[in-house]
Amino acid sequence: MNTQHAVGIDVGGTGIKGALVDTQAGELLSERIKYPTPEGGTPGDIFEVIAQIVDDCGPDAAGLPLGVCVPSVVKNGRTLTAANISTEWVGLDAEEALEDRLGRDIVFLNDADSAGVAEAHYGEAVGQEGLTILTTLGTGIGSALIQDGVLIPNTELGHLELDGEVAEHRSSAVARQRLGQSFEQWAAGLERYYLHLNRLFSPDLFLLGGGVSKEADQFLHLISLPVPIRTAALRNNAGILGAAFLAHNTRNSR
Ligand code: BGC
Repeated sequence: MNTQHAVGIDVGGTGIKGALVDTQAGELLSERIKYPTPEGGTPGDIFEVIAQIVDDCGPDAAGLPLGVCVPSVVKNGRTLTAANISTEWVGLDAEEALEDRLGRDIVFLNDADSAGVAEAHYGEAVGQEGLTILTTLGTGIGSALIQDGVLIPNTELGHLELDGEVAEHRSSAVARQRLGQSFEQWAAGLERYYLHLNRLFSPDLFLLGGGVSKEADQFLHLISLPVPIRTAALRNNAGILGAAFLAHNTRNSR
């Protein structure tokens, strides 16, 4: 068993993906394995898919640290909220329940936090001093705060209210489609959101992640801020890499 290897799994409202990861290099060692999220997104059904992904990683995955990220606030292994997955996750001791199901140690964390950890260790925020705020723009808005390389977890800045509305209801990538907005229209609201975050937190760098970052050339130049904003580097693999990194580090610090 290679002591630098770990398995990372990223649970989303539509898909669950995972891979075997080299946590030193920050690279996937296997194909990215992906399954649709089971209808209803209950913990039991999602646990079955996670077990399948671990199996698909092959014999090399046996006994390796396993990290799982979910669209939930996660405290001490317990999922306290649930976005786009079943409400059965709310208040669940997810870490313990999945450890019982798989018979191995597991680390659970929020999906945006996982992406932030990955960017800080392998991506666009490597060596970044001060405060980095990563926002992932997808169905909702996820956020990760990284201070000098260290994660401040569960910030949920997509739920901040601005102009009488929850920010992610207006400024997520899916909100743009739902509202039928052009990139120009959407970027104006997004700029307002980032200016507000800047006012509250005075970060040194903003990173923009999530699927829509692939289309950043359509809107990033329209967002004018007093601090740099760049696209995140790790795209679809950020959640997997961050979860694997944290599982590996947790095991080695026990
Ligand atoms: C959830 C966050 C999550 C984000 C991205 C938000 O709606 O509240 O926990 O990180 O979506 O999935």
